[in-house]
Amino acid sequence: MIKLLRWIPLIALVPSMAMAWPWSKDMANQISVKPQEGPDAIIPFPQRSVPAQGTQTTPYVHDADAAMKLANPVPATPKSIANGRELFKIYCVPCHGNSGTGDGLVGQKLIVRPFDLTAERVQKEVPEGYIWGHITFGGALMPSYGNDMYPSERWDVVNYVRHGLLTDPTATKTGTK
Ligand code: HEC
Repeated sequence: MIKLLRWIPLIALVPSMAMAWPWSKDMANQISVKPQEGPDAIIPFPQRSVPAQGTQTTPYVHDADAAMKLANPVPATPKSIANGRELFKIYCVPCHGNSGTGDGLVGQKLIVRPFDLTAERVQKEVPEGYIWGHITFGGALMPSYGNDMYPSERWDVVNYVRHGLLTDPTATKTGTK
């Protein structure tokens, strides 16, 4: 009996050893997209894949240069602008301020002031894809917000910056409130 007991630890090892065989994980290694598996690893997507909510409005782009060329697929409806305003208050106001000029409470403390979003350059000169790309990938100093918002939500923010910020009555005040 004592001799048998000695084998128990070894028996306990058997299942873990079994997983070491190449065929042990065949069922797990499927074409399905796994958590943390980036789009780079899975292009083209498996047939009949269903895009996650909010992602279907934008083709996948790798960098700000590619983003710049994207046309805004979300019409600047009052609903989109209102949603963009909400998100702007959450993600952008700390640095760019309610006014968008860069006077947010955090922005005031930065050595390089966040750029003025009410400037002619952001309002008229750059393509909307540039703003979307800046939100998605960040800038030299600005953090990226690609992981925080769906692509369509980032377009909503773009719509607010371009079509709502200058006329928003709360956007004239300094600070974050
Ligand atoms: C942590 C502070 C911070 C936050 C939060 C932030 N920004 Fe910025 N932003 C900056 C700084 C600093 C710059 C200038 C340097 C750079 O581009 O990195 C900048 C630059 C920009 C530019 C480029 C303007 C130009 O003239 O090229 C855009 C567009 C922009 N921000 C939009 C946004 C939007 C929209 C949000 C919210 C989703 C946001 N930023 C959130 C700090 C911030």
